[in-house]
Amino acid sequence: MARKKISLVGAGQIGGTMALVLAQKQLGDVMMLDIAEGMPQGKALDIQEGRSVIPTATNLSGSNDYADLAGSDVVIVTAGLPRKPGMSRDDLLDVNFGIIEKVGLAIKEHAPEALVIVVTNPLDAMVYAMQKVTGFPANRVVGMAGVLDSSRLACFIADELGVSAEDVRALVLGGHGDTMVSVYGAASVAGIPLSQLMSKEKFDELAARTAKAGGEIVALLKTGSAFYSPGLSAIHMAEAYLLDKKSVLTAAAQLNGEYGVEGGLYCGVPVVMGAGGIEKVIEVELNEEERKAFDVSVDAVKDLVSWVENKMA
Ligand code: APR
Repeated sequence: MARKKISLVGAGQIGGTMALVLAQKQLGDVMMLDIAEGMPQGKALDIQEGRSVIPTATNLSGSNDYADLAGSDVVIVTAGLPRKPGMSRDDLLDVNFGIIEKVGLAIKEHAPEALVIVVTNPLDAMVYAMQKVTGFPANRVVGMAGVLDSSRLACFIADELGVSAEDVRALVLGGHGDTMVSVYGAASVAGIPLSQLMSKEKFDELAARTAKAGGEIVALLKTGSAFYSPGLSAIHMAEAYLLDKKSVLTAAAQLNGEYGVEGGLYCGVPVVMGAGGIEKVIEVELNEEERKAFDVSVDAVKDLVSWVENKMA
């Protein structure tokens, strides 16, 4: 069986992190693509030169030519601008939409069979645009945000309780922005419902920090946004697909009636991810407070998507 090919469009901070993680995991060969001349080639060569100490048999290459997407099994897109202090993800809409349009057309032409994972912000609008531009079936165009948001919340819970983050499960739904929804009833520690270990008040504090967690890192870094945990989260999704793991994870998925959301809007929901891409959307029961918050989040996504629709009309 031939090796899988994983292409990373955008070889910046997240792209570079993903290339290293992919080399460590040996999920397939890696092609890094960027508009910056020499940069993807340099990063690929840098990791290549560490293969004997990683150790790994993965081969990495860099390119500035979209034609090198040919034969990709998975394409992960981080092409676009990251946030600077004081910016919201939505402030990136105009410039990143133009980039997603260009990249989407290239993927459609050169990698028509690939699974596409979009990471570029504002995430829900960008993955929506990617599906429209490529025309790929919705199960093959997904957005990475919920894995990251849920991991952030799980880690905050673990730190608060003084337990291993490995043992904590958390669920964050909705759009990847300030309106994201953390679900108290869905969190657990090694199978123990979180409600037996932590008050709702404390959980709400951690949920509020989760909704602002990206901004917390932007404020510290000053020159860009988070990249290690976003990179790890995107690879977690790629791995579920490549190994047909049937992983239950939160992804920005196209909704057609699920959660009462119509019109093919993309929003963060739990899904089953395997060789068929998004194989199933899981509908979680939400209480009244969570339902209201989810609807507010969906409305925020709708605003961004209608901007995209106007631009594409
Ligand atoms: N094709 C390929 N690469 C491109 C294109 C394009 N049309 N336009 C821009 N890029 C590249 C840039 O040259 C840059 O190297 O995308 C890369 C983005 O990398 P960074 O600026 O380091 O940003 P990063 O932190 O990786 O975040 C990328 O993911 O989480 C989101 O908000 C974040 O939108 C941002 C994206």
